Amino acid sequence: MIIEVMYNYSEMSIKTAEFIIEMVNKNPNALLCLAGGDTPIETYRLLVKASKEERVDFSQCKFVSLDEWVGLDENDEGSCKYFLYKEIFKPLNINKENICFFNAKCGDLQKECKRVDEFIFKNGPIDIILLGIGVNGHLGFNEPGIDFENYCHVLKLDKNTQTVGQKYFNKEMKLEYGISLGIKHILEAKTAILIANGEKKANIIKNLVEKDVTNEIPATALKLHANSFLFLDSDAAKLTHIK
Ligand code: PGA
Repeated sequence: MIIEVMYNYSEMSIKTAEFIIEMVNKNPNALLCLAGGDTPIETYRLLVKASKEERVDFSQCKFVSLDEWVGLDENDEGSCKYFLYKEIFKPLNINKENICFFNAKCGDLQKECKRVDEFIFKNGPIDIILLGIGVNGHLGFNEPGIDFENYCHVLKLDKNTQTVGQKYFNKEMKLEYGISLGIKHILEAKTAILIANGEKKANIIKNLVEKDVTNEIPATALKLHANSFLFLDSDAAKLTHIK
């Protein structure tokens, strides 16, 4: 895992966006998996800006979802799908046929896992996966204790994720289960980028950097990846020895 610390959130976002732009320019048909959450918001704004300036073209790329709260879809403000359509798919004018997103309202979630797995097997492996990290070390909804051999799966969310997840919604939500790509998809991606900013992430970043690979900290799986990157701002890196 290559680690780079940027001065602040803005610098971290520029680094991440430019890294993705360079890869998409080299591979315009790339399959991308982009995380929801607060961390990548500025990266997405920069990608949209670069696309408007014709520095990059995402029109031939394909996109697959990372995760979703079970029971929610694009009509629920705060869902992952709502967020990604608003922040990136709509502004980039991505053709719906190029997007494969979990339908977490579907009655048969196992079938849904299979559908997304098959999309990745057919169009993949994922070329670029952009991830955030939970304060509990999760990647997507791969919560502490998860089996690293999983592809797409449905799982009961950690209490911490259920509580922290409320921040995305404007009313109290029941966030008990998630549907997510598995660690195996993440490890099979050609390039994996994990980004984290702010003091609230400093403790988990310290653990991620210092501890050996363990499923108690799912993000440590990235240490098994041959081409993984951790981009931090100085607040998230402040408890580590990395400068
Ligand atoms: P955040 O979420 O970007 O909103 O901090 C990260 C995550 O929980 O994976």
